Amino acid sequence: MSYVITGATGHFGRHVVESLLDRGVAADNIVATGRTISRIDDLAERGVQTRASDYDDPESLRAAFAGAEKVLLVSGSDVGRRVQQHRNVIKEAVAVGARLLAYTSISNADRTDILLAADHQATEQILANSGVPFTLLRNNLYIDNYTGQLPSYLEHGAVLGSADDGRLSAATRSDLAEAAAAVLASRDQLDQVYELGGDEAFTYSELAATIGEASGRPVVYRDLPVEEYTQVLVGAGLPQSYAAVLADADRGIAEGQLYVTSGDLSRLLGRRTTSMPDAVRAALSSAQA
Ligand SMILES: NC(=O)c1ccc[n+]([C@@H]2O[C@H](COP(=O)([O-])OP(=O)(O)OC[C@H]3O[C@@H](n4cnc5c(N)ncnc54)[C@H](OP(=O)(O)O)[C@@H]3O)[C@@H](O)[C@H]2O)c1
Repeated sequence: MSYVITGATGHFGRHVVESLLDRGVAADNIVATGRTISRIDDLAERGVQTRASDYDDPESLRAAFAGAEKVLLVSGSDVGRRVQQHRNVIKEAVAVGARLLAYTSISNADRTDILLAADHQATEQILANSGVPFTLLRNNLYIDNYTGQLPSYLEHGAVLGSADDGRLSAATRSDLAEAAAAVLASRDQLDQVYELGGDEAFTYSELAATIGEASGRPVVYRDLPVEEYTQVLVGAGLPQSYAAVLADADRGIAEGQLYVTSGDLSRLLGRRTTSMPDAVRAALSSAQA
């Protein structure tokens, strides 16, 4: 069995490769791809095949996918271009006769109207029409998006957002990646949809309170209208279009669109998912170390 992992030069894909190795998959059965493969020289040293490929370059994809039985398509980061990029990847997976393509989509992609989901919805549609057997890994937001902002939350004593008191089923990126590896390594995962979220959903007020308790410093949640929060993100350096997408995702959280109760993630992991408070405490202690 050979596995091709796209986006392996990034955080999620690398963790999938590590999880496959932890599961006993032979290193030489794993092909790790991305544009900047110098970032994964350490995986190559452990016997993983590394092949450069670019979602915009079909020939590089075909070369990287040679012999692939299972392909993980990690969604690209180039919003606006990535639907075509994903189309390229799916086409080449079909061309090499892959038996499974797993795609990292977004929670509730079949019914959410958040802007962030549009590329994923388009990709799910391409997959449905492609003829390749596929599995949808509908990932919720990463808790890491929030723990990555701890220094800013602590500096300002505030978490800002537009999620009101909506509950969010965010999960750690490493839990979601481990689940992707479990799906890939499984014998019978064809044509399945996994709704992958944390077992313990939380509100932004709970996030702020947890950060306050864990750090011993006061942190509150300040809810802003979507337009105002968009401008805050622009002021922090984000491009207007991306800021609008992120603030709109908070609108979706407020409306319960990123709330998931399937239990799929903990079932795939065989354990409870990492909770937001545990992730916050771990991030704080690694920042102090
Ligand atoms: N659920 C969430 O909260 C959340 C948050 C952030 C992102 N995401 C999505 O999840 C994906 C994985 O997350 P991550 O944390 O691993 O992001 P990341 O660390 O930025 O990794 C992105 C990966 O995509 C690859 N990539 C981007 N454009 C490419 C192209 N044109 N051709 C080939 N590879 C390309 C990058 O490889 P090279 O740069 O080496 O080409 C890298 O390996 C992201 O790309 C994004 O779609 C989800």
